[in-house]
Amino acid sequence: MSSLGLVVLIPTTILFLILFHSFRRYAKKKDHNIPPGDMGWPLVGETFSFMKPHLSTTVGGFMEQHTTRFGKIFLSNLFGAPTVISAEPELNRFLFKNDTRLFEPGWPRSFADIVGRSSISFLVGDAHKHMRSIILDFLSAERIRTFFLQDMDYLASILLGSWTEGSVISSLDEATKFSFYIMVKNILSIGPEDPQIEWLRGEFNTFTKGLISFPLKIPGMAYWRGLQSRRNLLELLNQEITKRTKEGDNTNERTKKDDFLGWVIKNTDYSLEKIGDLMLHTLFAAHDTTSRAISLMIYFLDSSPEIIAHLREEHVGVLNSRRQNEESNLTFEDYKSMEFTQCVINETLRLGNIVSHIQRKVSADVHYKGYLILKGYNIAAHLSAVHLDPSLFEDPHHFNPWRWLCSSGVKKTNDFMPFGGGARHCPGSEIARLEMAVFLHHLILKHDWVVAEPDHPICVPYVDFAKGLPIKVRAFIL
Ligand SMILES: *[C@@H]1O[C@H](CO)[C@@H](O)[C@H](O)[C@H]1NC(C)=O
Ligand SMILES: *[C@@H]1O[C@H](CO)[C@@H](O)[C@H](O)[C@H]1NC(C)=O
Ligand SMILES: *[C@@H]1O[C@H](CO)[C@@H](O)[C@H](O)[C@H]1NC(C)=O
Repeated sequence: MSSLGLVVLIPTTILFLILFHSFRRYAKKKDHNIPPGDMGWPLVGETFSFMKPHLSTTVGGFMEQHTTRFGKIFLSNLFGAPTVISAEPELNRFLFKNDTRLFEPGWPRSFADIVGRSSISFLVGDAHKHMRSIILDFLSAERIRTFFLQDMDYLASILLGSWTEGSVISSLDEATKFSFYIMVKNILSIGPEDPQIEWLRGEFNTFTKGLISFPLKIPGMAYWRGLQSRRNLLELLNQEITKRTKEGDNTNERTKKDDFLGWVIKNTDYSLEKIGDLMLHTLFAAHDTTSRAISLMIYFLDSSPEIIAHLREEHVGVLNSRRQNEESNLTFEDYKSMEFTQCVINETLRLGNIVSHIQRKVSADVHYKGYLILKGYNIAAHLSAVHLDPSLFEDPHHFNPWRWLCSSGVKKTNDFMPFGGGARHCPGSEIARLEMAVFLHHLILKHDWVVAEPDHPICVPYVDFAKGLPIKVRAFIL
């Protein structure tokens, strides 16, 4: 192109962008039913300011500015689609209650490529219902109380028992190992002593990094490497599935394994591809978030000797009652008796905000409080904006587990939705809480710790610690 061409083209493009920008604003103002907002620039809209990293214990500059200007429900333009953002607990509950009827999954395409198209996050209607029931049936209360709890207790005891006095360890790495071992054991019957486990953990790590990275299919980039790991993991899964389903091979011990893969093979007629997607997605959803929750808990407790003292009292009590009953392992009754621990877990989930928002696509026009939310729009239920709202939680930026207790027992609030709600409520919420409690039990009874280098939870938009939250541990002697 000649330089003259450029001289003409650039100003024309800029003029066009400005006109387009003001036209979008004008078009919206005329239609008073649509939530107020700012569509930002063409195509990119306000995506970059929405995605800007910020402390996960704050709502971030974007939410602060927009809710001040437009209120708790406003319209923006994210990832090329008009998106209604809700910081209002009522609208969030409305979304969860009417999920699958008025809304459908709203994840970007690039996410489907790496998670898998037939993973539960993308299924709708009966296919979604069916897969969800398969998962929920597997996660029976009975199984959680026995197998899961036993594995957690055992793995926490060997993992935390291996921390040597005075050493500096990465909380995030250790918590990830813990939750990964639990899930691989219960999903694929691969134990921490299996020679495959470290390879598997490495591949899975790369896969997870790809999942939560910017989707550029350029060799060497996180997303590209994630796709590669996805292929490697699927290959291993396919071999395993083939081995287990081999006709007439009743002698194969693995066909009888009581794990999630065996459960799905036995109870569904899913294709190889669908089983693979289901396994990968379950592994990811089940372990990555929980390890971040455990790290957040360690982060919040670091600055609160009073809370640690309280927790210690509770967990020493559990230990003593176990000794009295001559039980060597943690029981579900023990877990249920950890009252203050439950408050610490809720407070960690409220202030830490592992999932800052949940996004859907609107599949039918929605009328809500005089607003019209158009079919085809996206909608984001902003969970952390609710959890950090001073009109709902007093002094919201303060880590205060006691807020969950009131004179008449446990305080009830339905504004607290760390696991979403409705038809797509996180099926692993009970397991995640149990894991946090068991890890905390062993941590509190075995170690004292201090954060070795300042590190903070950043919403990017999943929660991350830049340094992995390194802590220096000291043995705690009862
Ligand atoms: C959506 O859920 C609300 C309850 O939050 C209910 O009152 C309403 O009727 C539902 N709307 C539709 C269209 O199902
Ligand atoms: C305690 O846990 C260990 C390790 O999981 C297990 O081998 C043992 O059988 C359990 N003991 C009881 C009494 O359940
Ligand atoms: C923690 O939050 C859950 C809701 O996710 C609630 O059911 C439970 O009662 C809360 N626990 C405490 C101790 O407040």
